[in-house]
Amino acid sequence: MKQQTDRPALSAECKAAMERVRRENEVFLAANGRAPRVFVLTFGCQQNEADSEKLLGLSLAMGYEQTDLPDQAELILVNTCAIREHAEQKALSTVGQYKHLKAKNPALLIGVCGCMVTQEHRSEELKRRYPYVDFILGTASQHRLPQVICKRRDASRRVFDREDISSPMEEGIPIRRASGYRAWVSIMYGCNNFCSYCIVPYVRGRERSRDPHAVIAEVRALVAEGYRDITLLGQNVNSYGKDRADGYDFADLLRELDRIEGDFWLRFMTSHPKDAGRKLIDVMAESRHVAHQFHLPLQSGSDGILKAMNRHYDTARYLSIVDYLRERIPDVTITSDIIVGFPGESEEDFEGTLAILRRVRFDMLYSFIYSPRKGTPAAAMEQVPRDVQGARFDRLLQTQNAIGKEQNQPLVGRTLRVLCDGESKTNPALCSGRTEGNKIVFFEAGREHTGRFVNVRIDRADAFALYGERQ
Ligand code: 5AD
Ligand code: SF4
Repeated sequence: MKQQTDRPALSAECKAAMERVRRENEVFLAANGRAPRVFVLTFGCQQNEADSEKLLGLSLAMGYEQTDLPDQAELILVNTCAIREHAEQKALSTVGQYKHLKAKNPALLIGVCGCMVTQEHRSEELKRRYPYVDFILGTASQHRLPQVICKRRDASRRVFDREDISSPMEEGIPIRRASGYRAWVSIMYGCNNFCSYCIVPYVRGRERSRDPHAVIAEVRALVAEGYRDITLLGQNVNSYGKDRADGYDFADLLRELDRIEGDFWLRFMTSHPKDAGRKLIDVMAESRHVAHQFHLPLQSGSDGILKAMNRHYDTARYLSIVDYLRERIPDVTITSDIIVGFPGESEEDFEGTLAILRRVRFDMLYSFIYSPRKGTPAAAMEQVPRDVQGARFDRLLQTQNAIGKEQNQPLVGRTLRVLCDGESKTNPALCSGRTEGNKIVFFEAGREHTGRFVNVRIDRADAFALYGERQ
């Protein structure tokens, strides 16, 4: 790896705008006896969670205080998702609920950020039908939050900043992490794959890899701070480094991160089967910190549908990766994404997907009914009727539930290392945590174990979780 000049930390323009908002917020504090408050709401994937940690970090650096209550806030940021129609509708209806808050608090600024608003038609819709939204901030514009706030305060016009989605991301944005022991680290942004169903390449731009030095420094600092579970994020992590001249790739990065001393798990997502290679699996197998877990989206078990999806692999290639993974890492947990009811999916195609489920025996599946996305090729193809999609989706879940349960049974009687997340939200009498394979475990423990590794003897397992006793 050759030394590269890091992009300079936050631009002078951003710093100046931050300073100005900070001073204005001090005036607010003097007048009101409290700092102005920020409320950040996140929809969608881990990348969005990571982006929100930056939006919050920037806001705190400008003198806002965090609140969990939108009606207490002077700044509301809604970070949206566009992956399926349902995610967009949820975000829009939430933004709709904030209309009345503006009437109560004229100082309130409402900003809508992220993937949904990066699409032109949604940005126009917010312009026309949501006049109380003060600004939008596209996926590559987070670092301009301070400038956008200044612009909005100066002008009577609202600000619609969704430019240059493929521009390099700034280093040095302050991050306020939601957890003190699990962390997201973005290693690259964007996607070049253009799977025919997917909106991501249109809203997150082309692939841009972060400088490895910046990633290594961030992970090293997290480990030093006591973070125990670090997930490297990218739309397609296997493409890491392809935009670099020196051939340094994701496996190289992982190998280097594995040299960091400390007690922590390293994960990554998401991998694309077309370029998840043996080198990566070898690095995993030989590593000390890389968790024995692999998320490898299959999407469909039909070669014809994979072609129509523009996925650039077939089922034989997918199975060869799985076989090599299991050969090198016998206890690996394998999870996947499946889309049901993609345009043109026949009964036979769908049976092909079920057949792969039975062959691979995934530990867990994230399954989705195909949702047409405006502007993507698949939206113009012949659609599968809703009721057929629904029936196939139910069959997929049934098949996977049985497999998931069977996959978890061999863990009964074993003692596993679990990173404790504290009181379970679904069952407050118990704590929950995650294994190295990222399986959820419920057990009795005091809150003081939150963020620590504990040993749990598993005495029961169902399709979605393990249950046991702390040792
Ligand atoms: N409809 C349904 N699911 C989708 N995904 C991506 N785009 C769509 C869509 N239009 C799923 C894929 C991807 C996961 C993050 O979301 O399975 O891997
Ligand atoms: Fe979407 Fe395909 Fe890129 Fe994943 S790899 S973000 S599914 S286009």
